Amino acid sequence: MKLHLPSLCSLLTACFIFSLELSQGTEVDNLQDTCPTDTAQQNTFINGLPCKNPAHVTASDFKTSLLNDKGGTDDIFRSSTNIVTAAEFPGLNTLSLSVARTDLEVDGMVTPHAHPRASEMVFVSTGVVVVGFIDTNNTVFLQTILREGDVFVFPRGLLHYCLNNGFENATIFSVLNSQNPGVVSILGSKFAPDDDHDHESIQKLKQRLISLSRLEAERLDNVTFF
Ligand SMILES: *[C@@H]1O[C@H](CO)[C@@H](O)[C@H](O)[C@H]1NC(C)=O
Ligand SMILES: *[C@@H]1O[C@H](CO)[C@@H](O)[C@H](O)[C@H]1NC(C)=O
Ligand SMILES: *[C@@H]1O[C@H](CO)[C@@H](O)[C@H](O)[C@H]1NC(C)=O
Repeated sequence: MKLHLPSLCSLLTACFIFSLELSQGTEVDNLQDTCPTDTAQQNTFINGLPCKNPAHVTASDFKTSLLNDKGGTDDIFRSSTNIVTAAEFPGLNTLSLSVARTDLEVDGMVTPHAHPRASEMVFVSTGVVVVGFIDTNNTVFLQTILREGDVFVFPRGLLHYCLNNGFENATIFSVLNSQNPGVVSILGSKFAPDDDHDHESIQKLKQRLISLSRLEAERLDNVTFF
């Protein structure tokens, strides 16, 4: 058989572009209207979560009250974040969406972290916060002040953080464009609240983030949190 080179080339190019799009693009397209998570089934492991029997899907699969309440802010960071994914909110399965609520007490903060599979859009519900993210060139992008109703977006995979910069508790809601965004934190495992050394590191980190926010969008040559 004689290979037709130009068409083989274009086929390979098309495959390459397609696989690039798959690897960079959003999650796999849905082949049905809905696919609420079957929370009972745990013995099949696929890329995503198994669907409920369509005959048993109801409107309640598409509602959650998991973000109604403030989380406990009684830790060293004075903040709490609750991310609700398709594992807890069945209707999200296959929709490439998650939702989160963050509560920050006065001086509370969410330390630098990244979501490897999602961009995050935040909406300030109450309070005044400072948010920022750091790109792969170590440039810091800051929005000094976000007030009630303001929206900010953290691009996928980039380190970001937020601080309560006001005189009252703040609440933020976020939408993330993956049903399983993942979290990578620069702090790794949780700090023990009564460890003096950790407490000192946290204070330093806080000061660093606060002084970063005072520098506004000025370019920094390198970012060192500690
Ligand atoms: C990355 O940072 C360097 C050093 O400040 C700068 O010269 C370069 O233009 C930046 N590149 C981009 C793509 O922003
Ligand atoms: C802020 O939140 C804390 C913890 O839930 C609470 O004890 C405090 O009363 C709140 N402050 C205000 C001004 O609502
Ligand atoms: C980073 O900044 C510090 C001071 O802020 C400086 O001493 C250090 O040399 C810088 N590192 C690099 C790699 O530029």
